[in-house]
Amino acid sequence: MVETEETLSPVCDLPAPMKEYIIHFAQVHETFRKPELESLATLFNIEYKLLYYSDKTAFARIALKSNVDARKLISRSILTKDIYELWGSGYTYESLHADIRKRTSHLWHLYKDPSFKFLFKSFNGNRPESDKRKLIESFSYLGFDGPIRMKNPEELFVVMEDYEARSIEDPSRFAALNLDFEEIAATPSCNPTHLPEPHQLYLGRLIGTSNRDAIEVYDLKKRNYIGTTSMDAELSLVTANMALVSTGKLAYDPFVGTGSFAVACAHFGGVTFGSDIDGRMIRGNRPGKDLRSNFEQYGIMDRYGDMFVSDLTNSPLGRFGSQEGERSEQIFDAIICDPPYGVREGLKVLGSRDPLRPKVPIMKDGVAQHTLKDFIPPKRPYSFDKMLDDIMNFSSTHLVPGGRLCIWLPTADEDTHEFSIPTHKNLKLESVCIQNFNKWARRLLTYTRTSDDHSESITGEKLESGTTLDIGSAEEKFSRTADALNPFRRKYFEGFKTPPSEEP
Ligand SMILES: C[S@@+](CC[C@H](N)C(=O)[O-])C[C@H]1O[C@@H](n2cnc3c(N)ncnc32)[C@H](O)[C@@H]1O
Repeated sequence: MVETEETLSPVCDLPAPMKEYIIHFAQVHETFRKPELESLATLFNIEYKLLYYSDKTAFARIALKSNVDARKLISRSILTKDIYELWGSGYTYESLHADIRKRTSHLWHLYKDPSFKFLFKSFNGNRPESDKRKLIESFSYLGFDGPIRMKNPEELFVVMEDYEARSIEDPSRFAALNLDFEEIAATPSCNPTHLPEPHQLYLGRLIGTSNRDAIEVYDLKKRNYIGTTSMDAELSLVTANMALVSTGKLAYDPFVGTGSFAVACAHFGGVTFGSDIDGRMIRGNRPGKDLRSNFEQYGIMDRYGDMFVSDLTNSPLGRFGSQEGERSEQIFDAIICDPPYGVREGLKVLGSRDPLRPKVPIMKDGVAQHTLKDFIPPKRPYSFDKMLDDIMNFSSTHLVPGGRLCIWLPTADEDTHEFSIPTHKNLKLESVCIQNFNKWARRLLTYTRTSDDHSESITGEKLESGTTLDIGSAEEKFSRTADALNPFRRKYFEGFKTPPSEEP
């Protein structure tokens, strides 16, 4: 690849040293794409300006200072595919060629001799190979004389075509393209958003590729040890990116389960810790099938910090820094979790159902039962909202300033307009991403620990109508049914039907 930082002719208004690039996104988890990119820019301290982005298309334009920054920015991205130096853009091939001449004619001599290849990447449309060949020939004015190499060419040029109608932002473009969007949308035989011709074209030179191949490496289907609630590889890796996990940082999952987030954090170099109220999740069900074995499978044991059995609400980490002279309690760079939704069984934490019961050891044959190896401690029902409160407070206490909390929360679809985001004075909300299922959705909330310190914890924050984070409320003490304590669980078993009072 010819390495040049020679500036392309500035066509749009950019600060002088910045260049334009095209990012080719994967068309999945659209609401996660921009926050992932922003997180990576923060992680690598890269200055950028997003010039055009839409969830409706796979192509975005971004301004960056250098190819080095471009390559770094997407090197560990999961939701992008590649990044290209922009050579030209246009609504038609005629305008594309004109733009290429204007921007890059002073660079063509650099690419005269290296081997090269031209490719097409089309979004929501395609054209026959014979047409592509003809179109590629229309770029012959670039004067590339090097050998055309289909495998490992020194330079890869990509023609990008966008056929997606919904990514047209200016409605007058439809008229300019001689198109009637309503007519297209009303044609049942074709994808309503697929246009017969692309409405946006780019030519780009490949600069860097993303880390999407990690999805395949960590695919749950090939993982040694998984459970029913293991988070898929793609979203675990994205979450680790949002949490800014990198080499030498400490990451912790207080609901670690089978360790999906721990593995993803370790992939990016983080030293990982985790805990779970249920030791069986960590120990696994058969010899050689446990959380640790996943780290062995991927050769990332050097990043296995430790896993321990603990209830988040009674965590031994809570005792850090309680005495003067002890090490700081701000120990983690990232806290990532997918707390239990309490659907299969209601949420439980350690403790007795009866809060008034005296705390005396249970003795049998003169032996205190809690000292036995197979002792199962009593658990009591807990409210989902209070657990959220505990996670926020725990993160405020144990994250370093600038550290991130990434938390997954379930919501019923009809809650979308009602869902209000948990807040904490020491945690700044960075992004809210949504993964939609058939009748429900889950959201990934990302927060940064601020450097200011407010000792107040959150109390009584409204989450959904009728649900408050009322710590130690009467509801929790006396109405201890799993449904009463967890509105999501109740709605799940009601089949997410809108309550009659809310029906139109
Ligand atoms: C949704 S699963 C997390 C799955 C995990 N992300 C994985 O990839 O396997 C929630 C986990 O939280 C654990 N859990 C439930 N209540 C807890 C509590 N109070 N403290 C700590 N862990 C708890 C459960 O045992 C379960 O393993």
